[in-house]
Amino acid sequence: MSVTAMATATSPAVGSIRSRRSTSGVTRFKMAVRSSSISLAVAPLLTKLQQDCATPLPVLRNVADSMSADIRAGLAVDGGSDLKMILSYVDSLPTGDEKGLFYALDLGGTNFRVLRVQLGGKDERVIATESEQVSIPQDLMSATSEDLFDFIASALANFAKKGGNFHLPPGRRSEIGFTFSFPVKQTSIDSGILIKWTKGFSVSGTAGKDVVGCLNEAMDRKGIDMRVSALVNDTVATLAGARYWDDDVMVAVILGTGTNACYVERMDAIPKLQGDFPPSGRTIVNLEWGAYRKGLPLTVFDRDMDAASINPGEQIFEKTISGMYLGEIARRALLYMAEEGSLFGKSVPEKLSMPFVLRTPDLSAMQQDTTDDLQTVGSVLYDVAGVESALNSRKIVLEVCDTIVKRAGRLAGAGIVGILQKIEEDTKGAIFGKRTVVAMDGGLYERYSQYRRYLQESVTELLGPETSQNIVIEHSKDGSGIGAALLAATNSKYGRNC
Ligand code: BGC
Repeated sequence: MSVTAMATATSPAVGSIRSRRSTSGVTRFKMAVRSSSISLAVAPLLTKLQQDCATPLPVLRNVADSMSADIRAGLAVDGGSDLKMILSYVDSLPTGDEKGLFYALDLGGTNFRVLRVQLGGKDERVIATESEQVSIPQDLMSATSEDLFDFIASALANFAKKGGNFHLPPGRRSEIGFTFSFPVKQTSIDSGILIKWTKGFSVSGTAGKDVVGCLNEAMDRKGIDMRVSALVNDTVATLAGARYWDDDVMVAVILGTGTNACYVERMDAIPKLQGDFPPSGRTIVNLEWGAYRKGLPLTVFDRDMDAASINPGEQIFEKTISGMYLGEIARRALLYMAEEGSLFGKSVPEKLSMPFVLRTPDLSAMQQDTTDDLQTVGSVLYDVAGVESALNSRKIVLEVCDTIVKRAGRLAGAGIVGILQKIEEDTKGAIFGKRTVVAMDGGLYERYSQYRRYLQESVTELLGPETSQNIVIEHSKDGSGIGAALLAATNSKYGRNC
């Protein structure tokens, strides 16, 4: 029986499962039989949601084509499209010859990471790495620029103190690859101006400033003697990190708290790029594809979430496909179904009204549930939203999660095809006629198997079974950390092999 059909039937006495924490911390379930019926009204609400979120092939094709067109328009002139098409100043990619000790700082989402890498050239490659991760306190996300950069500099100072077995030749300052994962207008490989914050950050006093300058000032305040030799977006660092191992990597995509993509472009295909080209003739371009907006199947829940956000009207693609938002879209849909369709019985669970109470990892946890009575779904709903649910309600909840995640994964796939298609149009066979790798990273991609499956499915649908065999979509675990250190090495003030 389909869930829609099921929802129209009442279920006389289903087991309502309440989760309880035992003293050992293991979740136990107590079956409490109670009469429960899902209102007839919920079925059409689910159907409507599924229709509004549908991504049949023509929708995907339209998104892929519009993405290609927006890429071209953004390459032609600054402000030419929703896509900023930011020049990264990364004109040479790691070759494997890089040697020496380099640091990477990674600020971009809920965590901040600092890492050190000892590179040993072609033979030894990555000799050793060490890293530390700290979560960004919520209040820092809306603090002052000085507070945020002081926090980063302190974490770096603490980490640098514990030198370990890493060796810096005498007389040299440590060099840093700074991964700063927000829209930045690069002004050189080691400087760039923050255009705006995304992903819920609203730190005052940084927009319009050189973020390397902000970091340098904080390092001075903390007495740290290091220099930034490369400022990069996380997509760019991921591409560099993946390319270090595999020459076929052409595109990198982040699907985490936020989302974005970059790719390797021929400089003569970038009309807005003036001046002489370096010998490689290629550069990495950062799309900032979170700002894409054309042809997306959006619902009232997306629109309401956007209107209530700190950046209304902005980052629409990001708000449709990235980890920060999927849980919230689902929460809004579930709340509506509870209010208008009595999804959880007569009363509406109060906690479900709290914005962002349901997170994307909760959706993922529920979708991994394989028990007959959907125990994990029951316990997540209870723990997160205080909802006591019957089996039929849980099944509807799963349908809602799947609808939101399916749309997101499939649209992300269409975006990837849009990029590949653009490069292929310029140089026939360069992408589809050979093995081409898309390096993926980010918690959403890494930890949500259904998301990955939907993404791959949409790429295959769009490209067809034969062409899609040449496109390898690959998880590049922590490519970004090593990638930033590698870019610090390729742009080292002391030369590549220090
Ligand atoms: C930022 C991008 C970043 C992406 C993934 C977006 O919100 O604008 O610069 O690459 O998140 O971290």
